[in-house]
Amino acid sequence: MGGAWLGLGLVVALLLWSWKRRNRRGWGGDDEGQKPGEKRSWYAVVVLGIVAPIVVISALFVVGDLFVIKTTQAPASTATRLTIHVIGHQWWWEVRYPGTNAVTANEIHIPARTPVRVLVSTADVIHSFWVPELNRKIDTIPGRTNAIELDADQPGRYRGLCAEFCGLQHAHMAMYVFVDEPSAFRRWLAREEQPAADPSGAVAADGERLFVNGPCSSCHAIRGTEADGFVGPDLTHVASRTTLAALTIPNDRENLREWIVSSQHVKPGNLMPDFNAPGSKLDALVAYLEGLR
Ligand code: CUA
Repeated sequence: MGGAWLGLGLVVALLLWSWKRRNRRGWGGDDEGQKPGEKRSWYAVVVLGIVAPIVVISALFVVGDLFVIKTTQAPASTATRLTIHVIGHQWWWEVRYPGTNAVTANEIHIPARTPVRVLVSTADVIHSFWVPELNRKIDTIPGRTNAIELDADQPGRYRGLCAEFCGLQHAHMAMYVFVDEPSAFRRWLAREEQPAADPSGAVAADGERLFVNGPCSSCHAIRGTEADGFVGPDLTHVASRTTLAALTIPNDRENLREWIVSSQHVKPGNLMPDFNAPGSKLDALVAYLEGLR
């Protein structure tokens, strides 16, 4: 940053200087041959326009590559206590905790003061995983797994996003990273590992039957039931998430309802078809999903 400001200052100063001198004699002309000032300005062009940029950019490249990039790299798998796997989809993030059953979407939890190794890959096109407050971007490239480190000192909520244009709803492909105190993180992970809660009450039980036997289960999994689709997000603990559709809408009753009935209105082009259910069926589905904490 310091180098960039210095360079900009130099360029602007030269620009002002040459503007001030624009009508002076000695800056070239077409009728009197080469003047001494013309030779000087040629040196200026060669030194400041060609040599200086090569030197400065090469130096920045070496410094960036040898020192800066290294500090943002993912720790070796042996040097960390936690590895998570984030998979980009059009247009949401699948989040897995290898070695556990926990699968979630768009809302990543990590423990504070712990270097976390994040493996990133994609189910379809190139996305880019970016949590600006925690580290640089890393692309998700088909057929490859890249790694990056997330290491947060302060517990809190950090917003991340997809930083590579990936289709119609690229702008609605955000995520939250929740940095929890380690003990709270362990409790969260233990709960995420559990299968889904049983429906409480007759309406919610209807909702579960509708979900499992209807079209929902061909795309979504709810662990502990027969729903095991993998096109859309795992909904085992969907009610414990704060948002829906990759942070597009808050996760509350009204928005959940609207999402089921007309997700194409909320997020056009997403893979979920609108589900035109009569009111009672919709109530049942919503009651069931709201219980999946
Ligand atoms: Cu995914 Cu942009």
